[in-house]
Amino acid sequence: MITVSNLAIQFGKQVLFQEVNLKFTPGNCYGIIGANGAGKSTFLRAISGEISPSKGTIILPSGERLSVLSQDHHAFDDLTTLDTVIEGHELLFKIKQEKEALYAKEDFTDADGIRASILEDKFAEMEGWNAESNAAMLLSNLGIKEAFHSVRMKDLSGKQKVRVLLARALFGNPDNLLLDEPTNDLDLETIMWLEEYLANYDNTVLVVSHDRHFLDTVCTHVVDIDYGKIEIFSGNYSFWYESSQLALHQQNQQNKKAEEKRAELIEFIARFSANASKSKQATSRKKMLEKINIDEIKPSSRRYPGIVFTPSRDPGNVILEVHDLSKSVEGDLLFRDVSFMIDKNDKVAFFSHDPRAMTALFEIIEGKIKPDSGNYSWGVTITPAYLPLDNNSFFNNDLTLIDWLAQFSEDTNEIYLKGYLGKMLFPGEDALKKARVLSGGEKMRCMIARMMLQNPNVLVLDSPTNHLDMESIQAFNNTLKTFKNNVLLASHDHQFLQTVCNRIIELTPNGVIDRQMDFDEYITSEDIKALREKKYGQS
Ligand SMILES: Nc1ncnc2c1ncn2[C@@H]1O[C@H](COP(=O)(O)OP(=O)(O)OP(=O)(O)O)[C@@H](O)[C@H]1O
Ligand SMILES: [Mg+2]
Repeated sequence: MITVSNLAIQFGKQVLFQEVNLKFTPGNCYGIIGANGAGKSTFLRAISGEISPSKGTIILPSGERLSVLSQDHHAFDDLTTLDTVIEGHELLFKIKQEKEALYAKEDFTDADGIRASILEDKFAEMEGWNAESNAAMLLSNLGIKEAFHSVRMKDLSGKQKVRVLLARALFGNPDNLLLDEPTNDLDLETIMWLEEYLANYDNTVLVVSHDRHFLDTVCTHVVDIDYGKIEIFSGNYSFWYESSQLALHQQNQQNKKAEEKRAELIEFIARFSANASKSKQATSRKKMLEKINIDEIKPSSRRYPGIVFTPSRDPGNVILEVHDLSKSVEGDLLFRDVSFMIDKNDKVAFFSHDPRAMTALFEIIEGKIKPDSGNYSWGVTITPAYLPLDNNSFFNNDLTLIDWLAQFSEDTNEIYLKGYLGKMLFPGEDALKKARVLSGGEKMRCMIARMMLQNPNVLVLDSPTNHLDMESIQAFNNTLKTFKNNVLLASHDHQFLQTVCNRIIELTPNGVIDRQMDFDEYITSEDIKALREKKYGQS
């Protein structure tokens, strides 16, 4: 259980939230939502003790353990996979290490013997003897085969690493589990596994996510950070969203009577409760029926960024030609014999069993890495703008936002640059913020501003919805739909792919599957399914 009292956090003049009084209780999964930059990650950092609040207290009952999903993929490079997981239970791991060091001593004294027996008792109390088998089971459930359990973290693939980090966070059923955007780096299969795991978790879970489907599956409560406050609502994300829409609607009907509004609300809740599937959600909805007060739910204050691309010139007929490209990464063949030509008006969804395939292809055509074989050429009239999957290296500096953006602009006039920052929701003094401290979504908005400055006539986008809040995703989606030129896109956002793209190119170890059709048509086609099995089957 986590108790937050009178909490306030501010950075300089920016007050993220204040007067926060909340309790997070076992058996519940709290989905933390809010616009990019609202303070979700900061709130979790305060709870885990990584930063101190400006005011107020956060209390965990003594003896309760709190576990955090690490975002740093290199933090445990020298540990084995199994130790990385067990070390997630810090105290247990310390005892195990001290014990092993004692037994390894050549001059084992009586005092050592006493110490060792104390440690053994503690170890047994914490079910230490089962720790290894429990950790191994967790890893295997997450698809990390036994052969990899004694391999060092630095020798794992990126996909394996994130699964190990997840196992580390979950190991030993921590009393309190904090997850910040856990689905970002996970493949679909692991996301589904995690959904199932969290839906059945008996302790307290706080999870930040922008993924509506994920939130709906796991959350019993929604914690909304808005208006400089943090408030808890029972029910899943859809319920919160629909009721805040209803609140907006009712706010606009000033002269409607209170009883009428109340009746509307009760009818709305009944409708929602009727299709409650998970038992946890059904009970929390029942409680909600007793407690809900429409006056407490406010329409959201989220804003939409202004995303506009104005190509500096029309593209000629030749856009991009790719011949026989192949690439292996970390010993896995991602694709081979990849050839295609991009035509005018093509908006292409790139697709593959392995998401690393798209990242590698984009890095090749952007000249960042070399293919193992094959070549490509851009048309002379083409100015592509590229949104990379990993933008961390762009923000490892002490520049202010305005100086950061100036790096990418011929025109460094302050008013001109401030125009772009304003459109990306960094008004006024926000321009003087340090790039380094930005939240994940704010960094993405800066990267989008950088692309806008390039006046591109082709957009190459690697997972553009990562980190973005729903409003930014919507704005980006609308812009891409109406963009007149080419879009080359890799995304796990179904709606994005479906509404933007008119051509699908799937990258396989045996060439491409290349179709002019929309994404839904592509993934539901039986013919393509058969073809796909053949292409991935034979290596
Ligand atoms: N050390 C810091 N100094 C100054 N400002 C900071 C610092 N850390 C965070 N901020 C600012 O505080 C705000 C909240 O950041 P935080 O990372 O908590 O947002 P978030 O809600 O997690 O957003 P996202 O959805 O993009 O991840 C942001 O505007 C960020 O720029
Ligand atoms: Mg965040």
